[in-house]
Amino acid sequence: MKQMSFADAEHSENVESLYGTTILHQFTGPSSKNGGCFKRHPLLVFHRLEGAMKDMESKEETRVGNVLAGWNHLSIVGPVHIKNASGARVQVATGEWYDDYIMGWGSCLLGHDSTIIKESITRSLSQGFLQQYETDKHRLLSERFCAVVPCAEKLRLVNSGLEATMYATRIARAVTGKRMILKFEGHFHGLNDSLTWNIDSSPRSGKVLASGELERLSGTVGIPDEYGMLTVPIPWNDTHAVQKAFEQYKGDVAGIILEPVALNIGCIRPDEGFLQELRALTSQHGALLIFDEVLTGFRANLGGAQKDFGVVPDIATYGKAFGCGMPIAGIAGKAEYMDIIAPRGPVQVSGTNTGRYLSVSAALAIIEHLADGAVFRYITALESQLKKGLWDVFDKHGIPCYLDSYGGRIGVHIGAYERPRTMKEIEKLYPVEFAKKLFYMLSNEYRLYGFLMPLSYCPEPVTLSAAHTPRMIEDACERLNSALKRLRFS
Ligand SMILES: Cc1ncc(COP(=O)(O)O)c(C=O)c1O
Repeated sequence: MKQMSFADAEHSENVESLYGTTILHQFTGPSSKNGGCFKRHPLLVFHRLEGAMKDMESKEETRVGNVLAGWNHLSIVGPVHIKNASGARVQVATGEWYDDYIMGWGSCLLGHDSTIIKESITRSLSQGFLQQYETDKHRLLSERFCAVVPCAEKLRLVNSGLEATMYATRIARAVTGKRMILKFEGHFHGLNDSLTWNIDSSPRSGKVLASGELERLSGTVGIPDEYGMLTVPIPWNDTHAVQKAFEQYKGDVAGIILEPVALNIGCIRPDEGFLQELRALTSQHGALLIFDEVLTGFRANLGGAQKDFGVVPDIATYGKAFGCGMPIAGIAGKAEYMDIIAPRGPVQVSGTNTGRYLSVSAALAIIEHLADGAVFRYITALESQLKKGLWDVFDKHGIPCYLDSYGGRIGVHIGAYERPRTMKEIEKLYPVEFAKKLFYMLSNEYRLYGFLMPLSYCPEPVTLSAAHTPRMIEDACERLNSALKRLRFS
């Protein structure tokens, strides 16, 4: 992911006094009539207003903050303009190189300028763009993909994780004839209108309602409450709440969507047996189990988290490392479900830019390159080295810290003595102010890009790639050690 919202809580209290209620309501619309189940989003309202004012001030600015993606505006460190990227490093406009620990938000598994990808694209360019034509490479890619991903009997290509999860829920609804989708708090599935609920850009974690579900908290301004009414947010790792939701919406649950490892809240794995319970409950209630493997897919092994945990979902979604920086995403699943997609079935899943030839060529080259497992072994070794290094440094400074990792992505929960299980626990434990200061220092003075980045109230995992080196990891730990000598943890 990610949506960046680093505003101080006190800002949100001042929103009305700063801008006046009239302007505020233009942004929020009329208040909810849903008995307090929905809440508007004061922090995001504030950001929208603040952003709009700044843009008005700068008449020559044609971009809205960033033209590319809001979450690349690292508001703690200010605007960063990158002019080059190589291996696992980025060069900023002033010429300095930074070691990159964002890596395309988990996409760039092979680094920023992988020869494998460059060569595949260059070879394909000579054949024309082949926009919207099905080629042999499309066939080969789906064959290779279905050979390695356990749930995949068929694959349909799209462009982004957002599209993949949107279509996956559409397929679940079409297959089951039911409406409700259960999702877990903190799990991010792209900025879909119906899934952008109870995520880390929501103003806080949700209160548990009598039904066991959470109050619905939108993760952005601009989505009417009605969109959230078919989405049921539930605390992660809470089997009882899932059971209650199945009772509450008896006969009307189309599916459960989840990140099998909750990377968007700092890499929180499922409790022992939790995925198996979800598998059993969905089968029992005639709902589809959807794994969103946009982050977990192609990062730890070819089969993804479903292979690691031995739980096969009905449908899974892919993006990020599937294209390693090239724009491609996919929905895969059992033939009996995938065949509901047109032209075999009545469900529309298409787009002018889907299955672009250059991206398909790259994805095919990537899957072939990853087949022998060497990249995954290398990244796992780096991951162990960095985890150990981080533990040693935090321990040396007497700072409690819980760490977990998956596929070269390490969640660093500063302040936690033990593993948090839910977003609410993370919100309670995570020392946001300290994390912001540390992140600022590591970025500005130690040239680490995106290292130990706090998102609103949880940590963004540190991201490794095949282009990182053991020497870079040592350096990062030394720099962290030096920064912590100057920053008191309280
Ligand atoms: C788990 C997960 N699913 C879906 C998405 C959305 O993917 P995209 O940004 O390609 O729309 C993200 C993005 O961060 C993600 O982390």
